[in-house]
Amino acid sequence: MLDALERKIEQFINELNDETTQKLYAQIPAGKRLRAALILKIAPHTLSSIKLAAIVELIHAASLLHDDVIDDAFMRRNKPSINASFGNKTAIMLGDILYSKGFYELCSIDTKVAQIISNAVTQLSLGEQADVVLSKKFNASKHDYMKMIYQKTASLIEASSEAAALLANKDRVVYRNYGRAIGMAFQIIDDILDITASSKQLGKPAMSDFVEGKTTLPYIYLYEALQENERSKLLSYHGKKLKEQQLAWIEAKFKEHGIIERCIHEAKALALEATLMMQQEGNESLQKIAQDMVDRDF
Ligand code: FPP
Ligand code: MG
Repeated sequence: MLDALERKIEQFINELNDETTQKLYAQIPAGKRLRAALILKIAPHTLSSIKLAAIVELIHAASLLHDDVIDDAFMRRNKPSINASFGNKTAIMLGDILYSKGFYELCSIDTKVAQIISNAVTQLSLGEQADVVLSKKFNASKHDYMKMIYQKTASLIEASSEAAALLANKDRVVYRNYGRAIGMAFQIIDDILDITASSKQLGKPAMSDFVEGKTTLPYIYLYEALQENERSKLLSYHGKKLKEQQLAWIEAKFKEHGIIERCIHEAKALALEATLMMQQEGNESLQKIAQDMVDRDF
């Protein structure tokens, strides 16, 4: 299945007929191909579904190229990011090329599918903007965080699932809800791993979210649990490069209040919700995808 996908992506890149793009694209590690796997598990393998899977992966890769510029991130998937190796201009242009090729190809699939995917890309962009805006100060609102991760991450997973259901003549609403639930679980786990995993596991520096100003779910819950004077201390650490001792204080407070367990529990509840939806559909491999989403360490 994934062979056909890789061949389709390669074909799209070769059709650009541009050596610079081919060389640069070869520098991007493939990643988990989560969105493509989802599409190809929902829809039978036809030209349209393989194309859709390849398009979504191109759009996803484009969004990460731009995201690494926005986040000033120098590592991606255990390798130097494209912006780190070739500069911001190259990363932005390569993102634009992949994104526009994806949209060109999207036009030759069903109009409704094209609408679902392009709407998700608008949501991605709004979500990325919200992430940047929220990072300017300590965001203590869970509502704003949940809305932002829905837009930034869950929307494209939700759209992939819904669009694949449409191609497969399955119940769009069920698959859309399933995609949203696993997308939310995925980002919450990602945000937990930033705190609990090593940089080797993550393929990028660990504990970088808070330094970048991102107050993810664990920090929001921690803020709620702290005493007034401790809250001031946490706020004074926000958006700064922290010393070992300061990081150790945050970690101790996470432990004291059982924050990480609480967040894992919340992600697992979403994964369970998604699993139950697929139990009703009788789809075992999608139940497994939902479980894998939360049982991962990178
Ligand atoms: C990673 O978040 C970022 C995203 C999932 C979405 C990025 C979206 C855009 C830049 C807008 C859309 C642009 C195009 C060209 C389609 P993160 O920084 O929390 O995760 P990370 O740690 O993996 O970087
Ligand atoms: Mg980023």
